[in-house]
Amino acid sequence: MISSMDPHKRFGLLRIVSFILFLILTKDLSCSAFADSEQEIIEDECEAVHNQITDSISTYVSEMEEVEEEEWEMVQKKGNQFVVNDEPFYVNGFNTYWLMVFAADESTRGKVSEVFKQAASVGLTVCRTWAFNDGQWRALQKSPSVYDEQVFKALDFVVSEARKYKIRLILSLTNNWEAYGGKAQYVKWGKAAGLNLTSDDDFFSHPTLRTYYKAHVKTVLNRVNTFTNITYKNDPTIFAWELMNEPRCTSDPTGDKLQDWIQDMAVYVKSIDPKHLVEIGLEGFYGPSTPQRVQFNPNTYAQQVGTDFIRNHQALGVDFASVHIYPDSWISQAISDTHLPFVTSWMEAHIEDAEKYLGMPVVFAEFGVSAKDPGYNSTYRDNLINRVYKTILNSTRKGGSGAGSLVWQVFPDGTDYMDDGYAIVLSKSTSTSSIISLQSTRLALFNSRCSWKCHWGCKKKKQLEKLIYYDEL
Ligand SMILES: *[C@@H]1O[C@H](CO)[C@@H](O)[C@H](O)[C@H]1NC(C)=O
Ligand SMILES: *[C@@H]1O[C@H](CO)[C@@H](O)[C@H](O)[C@H]1NC(C)=O
Ligand SMILES: *[C@@H]1O[C@H](CO)[C@@H](O)[C@H](O)[C@H]1NC(C)=O
Ligand SMILES: *[C@@H]1O[C@H](CO)[C@@H](O)[C@H](O)[C@H]1NC(C)=O
Repeated sequence: MISSMDPHKRFGLLRIVSFILFLILTKDLSCSAFADSEQEIIEDECEAVHNQITDSISTYVSEMEEVEEEEWEMVQKKGNQFVVNDEPFYVNGFNTYWLMVFAADESTRGKVSEVFKQAASVGLTVCRTWAFNDGQWRALQKSPSVYDEQVFKALDFVVSEARKYKIRLILSLTNNWEAYGGKAQYVKWGKAAGLNLTSDDDFFSHPTLRTYYKAHVKTVLNRVNTFTNITYKNDPTIFAWELMNEPRCTSDPTGDKLQDWIQDMAVYVKSIDPKHLVEIGLEGFYGPSTPQRVQFNPNTYAQQVGTDFIRNHQALGVDFASVHIYPDSWISQAISDTHLPFVTSWMEAHIEDAEKYLGMPVVFAEFGVSAKDPGYNSTYRDNLINRVYKTILNSTRKGGSGAGSLVWQVFPDGTDYMDDGYAIVLSKSTSTSSIISLQSTRLALFNSRCSWKCHWGCKKKKQLEKLIYYDEL
């Protein structure tokens, strides 16, 4: 801890900290990155100052990490916030779904390390990725309960590599969509076993398919990592389990069928692994239980897909809420003036629900824009990201439920052939990197609030609070 540091180093830390405070105080007067103007332009001046701050922060953070190397604890939940070691843990993170598949091949494995390294360099601390590949090319699960050990080792590698870069993982356990197998593959397996199945949504209701899914959950959670010897269910590198990527059950618009599945599965995950947090993986549409909230949905179809944001998240065992944000997919593919206002109202509505009705944190677990959209340009993408980040900060400042966001999606160089249009290659996107990095820096300050109290006493803490709460972030 700090007392064991040599005096020279301690002086260095204090100097860095004072410098950061100075920069942030002065910076907010001149930097327009987070100004509330509609243009939300990133100025060069802002970037320069910001880079100084980031450098100082990362020096500070790496020195602190040296000191606190031993403390790599499980993320937990306290009321509507995440905590690690009793300190707040606000999330600035990203998605890269294909890590396991890339790690399965020696020739592409390096890309996993590369994306973690680049993400860490802009302060990202959480990655959401797939812990499933059902029956497809390079499948993890080749058929029910039959695993490819090489692919499992690849997932082990992803987990152990994430730890090296101090990145925590949200691991999703299957897909609503056909990519990487998902519920359609489970139904194919069921049919092959002679079950009378008529719809992919039988995945949610058929007892045998539920048994297949539970077996997968059990296998992953009890997996002993071949690189670290740590059982997944005991590994603090894993931030949370996600039941499914974007579950929908259009065959039952009442939502009862999906609700029953969520209840069954959330409790099941907890019964095997009571230590980790659990989320569902929903996009966040309001459903039949809250007719007064459906006005916030992006379109009228959204309330008919069998999901129900508030009701679904009230299921026992669900620890935090997830919401995705895709105006280009939900409102109009062409970028329009309505998209950014939608982002704000969509986020604020969910933050309010998470506070009033759910009493849990909410993570905006996917958001982004496709470069293939008509009307797209990188300024728009930066504005979208800025809008999400600012809305989070507005909540964070008030101690609200807005716990963080995960951009869709961060790719390393040379993986363009995997790009669906949404990929951000940090090394090629200076302005976007800068925005991401600034958000990381600001959230890192919130996250170190308590550790400052521990190390420097209440006087320091008060100074920081004053800075955070009264400064225009
Ligand atoms: C299969 O299930 C459907 C719908 O549940 C039912 O209508 C049909 O009779 C069943 N077929 C067989 C052969 O059991
Ligand atoms: C994991 O356990 C095996 C067998 O007990 C041991 O040989 C190996 O050194 C351990 N590896 C690590 C990284 O702890
Ligand atoms: C970028 O795209 C937005 C949204 O389509 C548009 O309003 C803006 O004028 C564009 N800016 C440039 C510099 O092309
Ligand atoms: C954040 O809060 C400020 C002050 O209440 C408000 O002016 C601003 O519009 C909010 N920004 C976003 C993105 O919600």
